[in-house]
Amino acid sequence: MSNPKEIEKLEHLRRLKEKAQLGGGEKRIEEQHKKGKLTARERLEILLDRNSFEEIDLLVEHRSHDFGLDKQKILGDGVITGTGTIDGRLVFIFSQDFTVFGGSLSETHAEKICKIMDMAMKVGAPVIGLNDSGGARIQEGVVSLGGYADIFLRNTLASGVIPQISAIMGPCAGGAVYSPAITDFTFMVKNTSYMFVTGPNVVKTVTHEDVTFEDLGGALTHATKSGVAHFACENEIECLQSIRKLFGFIPPNNLDDPPSIQSKDDPNRKEEKLNTIVPENPNKPYDIKDVIKLVVDDGDFLEIHELYAQNIIVGFARLGGKSIGIIANQPAVLAGVLDNDSSIKGARFVRFCDAFNIPLVVFEDVPGFLPGTDQEWRGIIKNGAKLLYAFCEATVPKITVITRKAYGGAYDVMNSKHVRGDFNFAWPSAEIAVMGPKGAVEIIFKKEIEKAEDKEKAIDEQVEEYRRKFANPFIAAARGYLDDVIEPSETRPRLIRALRILENKVDGNPKKKHGNIPL
Ligand code: HXC
Repeated sequence: MSNPKEIEKLEHLRRLKEKAQLGGGEKRIEEQHKKGKLTARERLEILLDRNSFEEIDLLVEHRSHDFGLDKQKILGDGVITGTGTIDGRLVFIFSQDFTVFGGSLSETHAEKICKIMDMAMKVGAPVIGLNDSGGARIQEGVVSLGGYADIFLRNTLASGVIPQISAIMGPCAGGAVYSPAITDFTFMVKNTSYMFVTGPNVVKTVTHEDVTFEDLGGALTHATKSGVAHFACENEIECLQSIRKLFGFIPPNNLDDPPSIQSKDDPNRKEEKLNTIVPENPNKPYDIKDVIKLVVDDGDFLEIHELYAQNIIVGFARLGGKSIGIIANQPAVLAGVLDNDSSIKGARFVRFCDAFNIPLVVFEDVPGFLPGTDQEWRGIIKNGAKLLYAFCEATVPKITVITRKAYGGAYDVMNSKHVRGDFNFAWPSAEIAVMGPKGAVEIIFKKEIEKAEDKEKAIDEQVEEYRRKFANPFIAAARGYLDDVIEPSETRPRLIRALRILENKVDGNPKKKHGNIPL
């Protein structure tokens, strides 16, 4: 016979849990939907494998008594936390609930996030944060600020140990933006998500600027102008599905390898189209993404930071079923030149791949660093040095394919042999020199050109001579700076074979607390 008291307890528990499912209540859920946003729980359903979510701390409540908060307690306190799987692989997750105090961060809300972060570190699994928060819970004052700092500390200690992914799915202000900023990848949703240290109203008071939410901190602003967001998605569903896709390329922690899959794409596939993809005229652009797609498994390339600093391309793909990180100069945008933004973009990506055992494959066609006051005053020296530093310190397998130009400092930077490139290949179209032909002859034949009657003709003749001598890969190959000059069509099989050779590569850096990357 069942005990009525026990039944009552069970029913009480069920009622509590049912109530907790509703967060801030049906009316607020309706408002959330009206804004074109999903609820925190609906997001988890799309992001995680079916029925894989294991919730913890559902029964947590805030402890605040000020401003009448003691009369407004909502189970879970505005954030849903727990674990789940994506394609069967474990992930720790938090999803902020805007229907509860605007998703604002209280002491207990922060403790819940810290708890799953601590657990994720112990078991070596990634953390995904779905952010939808008005920032520090104003009524709690410094306690809430302390909660943020607890999270920032954990974000920082976890950096390079477990991957951390953030999605911004609402108006994230103040402290709510600094945690995502420390994580590895930030996704935003167009028209419904915002990131700013403070919103348009305060901006108006402080700087007298009239600016909309979208212009100040919308998805496109951060994906194109600031580079704060790596992805600007059309809607929340696309955003959550893109996170799943990204997740498939990365390992659970810094001691594990990235997942590999059985690829049906022939590892020996040659691609004749590559033999004619570089235009005869060295000043004519071509799209390096066409090269990437022809080389990688099934043409599947997940571009990161697609809209930002488009003169460099970074992203994930697979070769022979294994994850690789691609960094490629883009001759179709600003001739693929390295400038402030592209150097920073490239450096951050190289460091992610190096931290998480993802081999680097570089496609190089770069006329050098962009000169001029704008670049110099914004620090092209220190920013270019970031990319240089990142490639120098990286110890994962590192392969470069020079498709055309490798001029000047950019030759050194883009994973040259000298900075520990493991395999350095070039196509016959490669041009490796201290600078482009015209600039070079104007310096080294300055006197001869000045004396010549027909200056243009004199320049052309010397350019021709310079080209014949330097605009090829054979001087570098003769010195062993290149391991081979290959037919473009055989790039895929050569890369796959090189990656297999490097599979068990071990390399290291001198023991130190940490380096001092030029920030
Ligand atoms: C407590 C908050 C809150 C907050 C929103 N709410 N933000 N409660 N603390 N930070 C509550 C509102 O009172 C409201 O409750 C409900 O959430 C929904 O908010 P609305 O304003 O009605 O929604 P909306 O119009 O969509 O505007 C959203 C918003 C706005 C843009 C986020 O609420 C806002 O500007 N909030 C304050 C943002 C901010 O300045 N935060 C502090 C940052 S400082 P009711 O019950 O009325 O529905 C910070 C310090 C950390 O974070 C720094 C660390 C480095």
